[in-house]
Amino acid sequence: MIDVAFLGTTVRPAGTAVVIDVLRATSTITLALASGYERVLVAGSIDAATALRTPDRTLAGEVGCARAPGFDLGNSPEETRPPRGADLVLATTNGAPAIVAAAEAADEVLIASLLNLDAVLAELAGREDILLVCAGTDAKVSMEDVYLAGRLSAGLGGDRTDAARIAEAVAAAYPDPFDALSASGGATGLRREGLESDIAFCAQVSITDVVGHLSEMVDGAALLTAAPAAATSAATHSTHK
Ligand code: MLT
Repeated sequence: MIDVAFLGTTVRPAGTAVVIDVLRATSTITLALASGYERVLVAGSIDAATALRTPDRTLAGEVGCARAPGFDLGNSPEETRPPRGADLVLATTNGAPAIVAAAEAADEVLIASLLNLDAVLAELAGREDILLVCAGTDAKVSMEDVYLAGRLSAGLGGDRTDAARIAEAVAAAYPDPFDALSASGGATGLRREGLESDIAFCAQVSITDVVGHLSEMVDGAALLTAAPAAATSAATHSTHK
Protein backbone atom coordinates (compact mmCIF):
# COMPACT_ATOMS: atom_id res chain seq x y z
CA MET A 1 0.00 0.00 0.00
CA ILE A 2 1.21 3.50 -0.84
CA ASP A 3 0.07 6.20 1.55
CA VAL A 4 0.87 9.87 2.08
CA ALA A 5 1.30 11.79 5.34
CA PHE A 6 0.66 15.39 4.34
CA LEU A 7 2.58 16.77 7.33
CA GLY A 8 5.78 15.61 9.01
CA THR A 9 3.99 15.86 12.32
CA THR A 10 1.62 13.04 11.28
CA VAL A 11 4.20 10.32 10.66
CA ARG A 12 2.94 6.86 11.62
CA PRO A 13 4.67 3.48 11.71
CA ALA A 14 5.42 2.08 8.25
CA GLY A 15 7.72 -0.37 6.55
CA THR A 16 9.38 2.32 4.47
CA ALA A 17 9.04 6.04 5.17
CA VAL A 18 10.13 8.30 2.33
CA VAL A 19 10.72 11.80 3.68
CA ILE A 20 10.13 14.74 1.36
CA ASP A 21 11.11 18.37 1.97
CA VAL A 22 11.79 19.55 -1.55
CA LEU A 23 12.40 23.14 -0.36
CA ARG A 24 14.98 22.41 0.84
CA ALA A 25 16.12 19.91 3.47
CA THR A 26 15.83 16.67 1.49
CA SER A 27 17.27 18.32 -1.62
CA THR A 28 20.21 19.56 0.47
CA ILE A 29 20.77 16.12 2.03
CA THR A 30 20.64 14.45 -1.37
CA LEU A 31 23.14 16.87 -2.89
CA ALA A 32 25.39 16.72 0.19
CA LEU A 33 25.69 12.95 -0.12
CA ALA A 34 26.12 13.20 -3.88
CA SER A 35 28.81 15.84 -3.36
CA GLY A 36 30.88 13.56 -1.15
CA TYR A 37 29.77 13.97 2.44
CA GLU A 38 29.92 10.44 3.85
CA ARG A 39 27.38 11.07 6.59
CA VAL A 40 24.60 13.55 7.21
CA LEU A 41 23.49 13.80 10.83
CA VAL A 42 19.98 15.22 10.88
CA ALA A 43 19.14 16.91 14.16
CA GLY A 44 15.65 17.69 15.42
CA SER A 45 16.49 21.26 16.41
CA ILE A 46 19.13 23.95 16.16
CA ASP A 47 20.19 23.27 19.74
CA ALA A 48 20.50 19.55 19.04
CA ALA A 49 22.69 20.27 16.01
CA THR A 50 24.88 22.63 18.01
CA ALA A 51 25.38 19.90 20.62
CA LEU A 52 26.68 17.62 17.85
CA ARG A 53 29.37 20.08 16.79
CA THR A 54 32.94 18.78 16.73
CA PRO A 55 35.97 20.28 14.97
CA ASP A 56 35.55 17.74 12.14
CA ARG A 57 31.87 18.34 11.52
CA THR A 58 30.27 21.00 9.33
CA LEU A 59 27.07 22.52 10.68
CA ALA A 60 24.32 23.50 8.24
CA GLY A 61 20.85 24.76 8.90
CA GLU A 62 18.31 27.51 8.79
CA VAL A 63 15.99 29.56 10.90
CA GLY A 64 13.29 31.23 8.81
CA CYS A 65 15.21 30.05 5.71
CA ALA A 66 18.30 32.12 6.67
CA ARG A 67 21.53 30.51 7.88
CA ALA A 68 21.31 29.63 11.57
CA PRO A 69 23.49 31.91 13.73
CA GLY A 70 26.98 30.48 14.18
CA PHE A 71 26.45 27.72 11.62
CA ASP A 72 28.96 27.08 8.81
CA LEU A 73 26.36 26.75 6.06
CA GLY A 74 22.74 27.57 5.44
CA ASN A 75 20.26 25.14 3.88
CA SER A 76 20.96 25.76 0.18
CA PRO A 77 21.80 22.51 -1.62
CA GLU A 78 24.67 24.06 -3.55
CA GLU A 79 26.39 25.16 -0.33
CA THR A 80 27.30 21.51 0.20
CA ARG A 81 29.64 21.59 -2.81
CA PRO A 82 32.50 20.85 -2.33
CA PRO A 83 32.29 18.89 0.94
CA ARG A 84 34.29 20.35 3.84
CA GLY A 85 34.80 16.98 5.52
CA ALA A 86 33.11 13.65 6.05
CA ASP A 87 30.24 14.75 8.30
CA LEU A 88 27.50 17.31 7.75
CA VAL A 89 25.16 18.10 10.64
CA LEU A 90 21.83 19.55 9.46
CA ALA A 91 19.00 21.20 11.38
CA THR A 92 15.99 22.74 9.61
CA THR A 93 12.57 23.92 10.67
CA ASN A 94 10.33 21.24 9.17
CA GLY A 95 12.31 18.73 7.12
CA ALA A 96 14.80 17.72 9.79
CA PRO A 97 12.19 17.07 12.51
CA ALA A 98 10.16 15.06 9.97
CA ILE A 99 13.20 12.87 9.29
CA VAL A 100 13.83 12.32 13.00
CA ALA A 101 10.14 11.46 13.52
CA ALA A 102 10.21 9.03 10.59
CA ALA A 103 13.38 7.44 11.93
CA GLU A 104 11.61 6.75 15.19
CA ALA A 105 8.45 5.34 13.54
CA ALA A 106 9.47 3.41 10.43
CA ASP A 107 11.51 0.30 9.78
CA GLU A 108 13.39 1.99 6.94
CA VAL A 109 13.76 5.66 5.96
CA LEU A 110 14.71 7.04 2.55
CA ILE A 111 15.31 10.66 1.61
CA ALA A 112 13.58 11.89 -1.55
CA SER A 113 13.85 15.00 -3.66
CA LEU A 114 13.27 15.79 -7.28
CA LEU A 115 17.06 15.66 -7.65
CA ASN A 116 17.02 11.87 -7.10
CA LEU A 117 13.45 11.03 -8.16
CA ASP A 118 14.24 8.12 -10.50
CA ALA A 119 16.71 6.59 -8.05
CA VAL A 120 14.15 6.69 -5.24
CA LEU A 121 11.56 5.06 -7.50
CA ALA A 122 14.06 2.32 -8.36
CA GLU A 123 14.68 1.65 -4.67
CA LEU A 124 10.99 1.54 -3.84
CA ALA A 125 10.13 -1.05 -6.47
CA GLY A 126 8.77 -4.10 -4.68
CA ARG A 127 8.20 -2.42 -1.30
CA GLU A 128 4.71 -3.09 0.05
CA ASP A 129 4.20 -0.60 2.88
CA ILE A 130 5.33 2.83 1.76
CA LEU A 131 4.52 6.06 3.59
CA LEU A 132 5.42 9.20 1.66
CA VAL A 133 6.02 11.81 4.34
CA CYS A 134 5.56 15.43 3.31
CA ALA A 135 7.39 17.72 5.74
CA GLY A 136 5.16 20.73 5.03
CA THR A 137 6.00 24.28 5.99
CA ASP A 138 5.37 25.57 9.50
CA ALA A 139 2.72 22.91 10.17
CA LYS A 140 0.89 23.69 6.93
CA VAL A 141 0.61 21.37 3.96
CA SER A 142 3.01 22.52 1.26
CA MET A 143 2.47 22.18 -2.47
CA GLU A 144 6.01 21.17 -3.41
CA ASP A 145 6.11 18.23 -1.03
CA VAL A 146 2.68 16.94 -2.07
CA TYR A 147 3.75 17.40 -5.70
CA LEU A 148 6.76 15.10 -5.23
CA ALA A 149 4.71 12.61 -3.23
CA GLY A 150 2.36 12.49 -6.22
CA ARG A 151 5.21 11.99 -8.67
CA LEU A 152 6.52 9.12 -6.56
CA SER A 153 3.09 7.54 -6.08
CA ALA A 154 2.32 7.79 -9.78
CA GLY A 155 5.60 6.07 -10.57
CA LEU A 156 4.90 3.08 -8.34
CA GLY A 157 2.61 0.12 -8.90
CA GLY A 158 0.28 -1.40 -6.35
CA ASP A 159 -2.54 -0.30 -4.12
CA ARG A 160 -2.76 3.28 -2.92
CA THR A 161 -4.83 5.29 -0.47
CA ASP A 162 -6.97 8.27 -1.34
CA ALA A 163 -4.22 10.46 0.14
CA ALA A 164 -1.88 9.09 -2.52
CA ARG A 165 -4.50 9.70 -5.22
CA ILE A 166 -4.87 13.30 -4.06
CA ALA A 167 -1.09 13.76 -4.27
CA GLU A 168 -1.07 12.26 -7.77
CA ALA A 169 -3.77 14.72 -8.83
CA VAL A 170 -1.61 17.60 -7.59
CA ALA A 171 1.38 16.25 -9.50
CA ALA A 172 -0.67 15.88 -12.69
CA ALA A 173 -1.73 19.53 -12.44
CA TYR A 174 1.87 20.74 -12.86
CA PRO A 175 3.61 19.51 -16.02
CA ASP A 176 6.64 21.65 -15.11
CA PRO A 177 8.01 20.94 -11.61
CA PHE A 178 9.29 24.49 -11.30
CA ASP A 179 5.70 25.75 -11.41
CA ALA A 180 4.70 23.47 -8.52
CA LEU A 181 7.66 24.59 -6.43
CA SER A 182 7.17 28.22 -7.33
CA ALA A 183 3.50 28.13 -6.28
CA SER A 184 4.31 26.57 -2.92
CA GLY A 185 4.35 27.81 0.63
CA GLY A 186 7.98 26.69 0.89
CA ALA A 187 8.98 29.16 -1.83
CA THR A 188 7.65 32.19 0.03
CA GLY A 189 10.37 32.30 2.67
CA LEU A 190 13.08 31.65 0.09
CA ARG A 191 12.01 34.67 -1.96
CA ARG A 192 11.92 36.78 1.19
CA GLU A 193 15.52 35.82 1.96
CA GLY A 194 16.75 36.35 -1.62
CA LEU A 195 17.20 32.60 -2.09
CA GLU A 196 14.86 32.12 -5.05
CA SER A 197 17.64 30.51 -7.13
CA ASP A 198 17.24 27.48 -4.83
CA ILE A 199 13.72 26.99 -6.22
CA ALA A 200 15.02 26.38 -9.74
CA PHE A 201 17.86 24.25 -8.44
CA CYS A 202 15.55 22.01 -6.42
CA ALA A 203 13.18 21.69 -9.42
CA GLN A 204 15.78 19.71 -11.38
CA VAL A 205 14.71 16.11 -11.92
CA SER A 206 17.00 13.11 -11.44
CA ILE A 207 20.41 14.77 -11.61
CA THR A 208 21.87 12.14 -9.22
CA ASP A 209 21.24 8.51 -8.37
CA VAL A 210 22.29 8.94 -4.74
CA VAL A 211 19.60 8.18 -2.15
CA GLY A 212 20.04 8.95 1.52
CA HIS A 213 19.12 6.10 3.89
CA LEU A 214 18.74 6.06 7.62
CA SER A 215 21.68 4.13 9.00
CA GLU A 216 21.18 4.54 12.76
CA MET A 217 20.29 7.05 15.45
CA VAL A 218 23.30 8.83 16.97
CA ASP A 219 22.74 10.95 20.07
CA GLY A 220 19.14 11.60 19.01
CA ALA A 221 20.09 12.50 15.43
CA ALA A 222 19.25 10.48 12.33
CA LEU A 223 22.48 9.36 10.66
CA LEU A 224 22.03 9.19 6.90
CA THR A 225 24.37 7.62 4.40
CA ALA A 226 24.24 7.24 0.64
CA ALA A 227 23.37 4.07 -1.12
CA PRO A 228 23.35 3.64 -4.87
CA ALA A 229 19.99 3.24 -6.54
CA ALA A 230 18.49 -0.21 -6.05
CA ALA A 231 21.36 -1.29 -3.79
CA THR A 232 18.83 -2.72 -1.36
CA SER A 233 16.84 -4.99 -3.60
CA ALA A 234 13.21 -5.76 -2.98
CA ALA A 235 14.17 -9.41 -2.98
CA THR A 236 16.37 -9.02 0.07
CA HIS A 237 14.16 -6.53 1.90
CA SER A 238 11.50 -7.78 4.26
CA THR A 239 8.00 -6.77 3.27
CA HIS A 240 5.40 -5.08 5.41
CA LYS A 241 1.64 -5.02 5.01
C1 MLT B 1 12.44 23.27 6.41
O1 MLT B 1 12.92 22.30 6.98
O2 MLT B 1 11.48 23.91 6.86
C2 MLT B 1 13.01 23.76 5.11
O3 MLT B 1 14.01 22.91 4.67
C3 MLT B 1 13.32 25.22 5.23
C4 MLT B 1 14.25 25.78 4.17
O4 MLT B 1 13.99 25.72 2.97
O5 MLT B 1 15.28 26.32 4.52
